[in-house]
Amino acid sequence: MKPIEVKLGSRSYKVHVEYGLLKKTGSIVRSLCSSEKIMILSTPKIYCLYGQTVFDSLSSKGFKVYPFLISDGETHKNEKTLFKVLREMTRLSFQRDACLLALGGGVTGDLGGFAASIYMRGIQFVQCPTTFLAQVDAGIGGKTAIDFEGVKNIIGSFYQPKVVLADTAVLKTLSDRQLKTGLAEVIKYGIIKDATMFGRLEAQLEVVLRRNPKMLLQLIWRSCQIKAQIVSEDEREGGKRAWLNYGHTLGHALEAYFNYDVLTHGEAIAYGMMFAARLSVQLGLCAEEVADRQINLLRKAGLFRPIRRFNVKKVYEKMFLDKKAKNGQIQFVLTRKIGLVTIQKSVPQSIVFSILRQLQD
Ligand SMILES: NC(=O)c1ccc[n+]([C@@H]2O[C@H](COP(=O)([O-])OP(=O)(O)OC[C@H]3O[C@@H](n4cnc5c(N)ncnc54)[C@H](O)[C@@H]3O)[C@@H](O)[C@H]2O)c1
Ligand SMILES: [Zn+2]
Repeated sequence: MKPIEVKLGSRSYKVHVEYGLLKKTGSIVRSLCSSEKIMILSTPKIYCLYGQTVFDSLSSKGFKVYPFLISDGETHKNEKTLFKVLREMTRLSFQRDACLLALGGGVTGDLGGFAASIYMRGIQFVQCPTTFLAQVDAGIGGKTAIDFEGVKNIIGSFYQPKVVLADTAVLKTLSDRQLKTGLAEVIKYGIIKDATMFGRLEAQLEVVLRRNPKMLLQLIWRSCQIKAQIVSEDEREGGKRAWLNYGHTLGHALEAYFNYDVLTHGEAIAYGMMFAARLSVQLGLCAEEVADRQINLLRKAGLFRPIRRFNVKKVYEKMFLDKKAKNGQIQFVLTRKIGLVTIQKSVPQSIVFSILRQLQD
């Protein structure tokens, strides 16, 4: 399938989505980067699975390749790990023309992108996302970050990669839970922008869950296309990019409320989408059937992981901490119909509370 372009003037880049793509890393990166030295930033697990392929491919094109492994997981997406990476690049005498390639999930990509953006005020950066979630979301769009003082993604930058290489073959080693967390984002793209893809997910969910390679490839390609289009029009989230936040206002609040260790991101935004769908009905923005279709699909995908009862007031307060809340107001992304969303700023607290309570029934 042809690469997708993120159009940002001189910072434009392509997103390649292909089965077995990692073998071509060297030739694609060589055509874009003048670097002599390149760091492969990864985790032990991912490097063990896919690192050698990337290493060999880059070496064959004349790069001096330096693998550097960081500990796996969100708890390591912090300043300590960031400085380890920066220290290693300094030790290796990386210059301005060096390159950092992030091979891993969203954690590796976010941290790697941030390191690349600040080392010598910015070196070349390549994203090789290896989770379903990172291939459809985190890997593209140029948001980089680390967590700090218990606050997620609080330090970061907008820094676009030179290219994104999404090899769909790597998805075969993902856990079922990780696969589903990415699927939640794909369902989100359907709701915000593509009724046809949403219908396909409804009709062929089994095929997706069985990881049919052709199906995964097509879903990832289309999701990347939607994200690329939105980012091209609104890189810094002045308007449209907020659509991507559908289900995320409550999703982020729930993830934080449960200390990031009960719900995966996809499971949290599934509750967030159920909330947004019901709120849309309540506010008269869409028909009940539109909400039911969303909730049924998320349920069939196994995304509603049972949760203990939560404190509605505390979760509501966390919704205000969302980076997207402006001037003390929460921006709600709501549905008009499948494939069309709208932004609403003032929603009465009593309505929000009653829908939050319903989520627990
Ligand atoms: N920058 C953005 O726009 C953006 C968007 C969404 C999420 N994010 C960030 O992304 C992070 C979440 O990303 P994630 O879900 O990829 O988490 P992750 O990077 O922690 O990966 C999840 C797990 O999957 C494993 N894994 C990765 N690829 C694998 C493979 N091919 N086979 C087997 N196991 C594999 C990892 O080792 C890890 O244990 C969060 O930190 C979030 O803030 C960023
Ligand atoms: Zn998300």
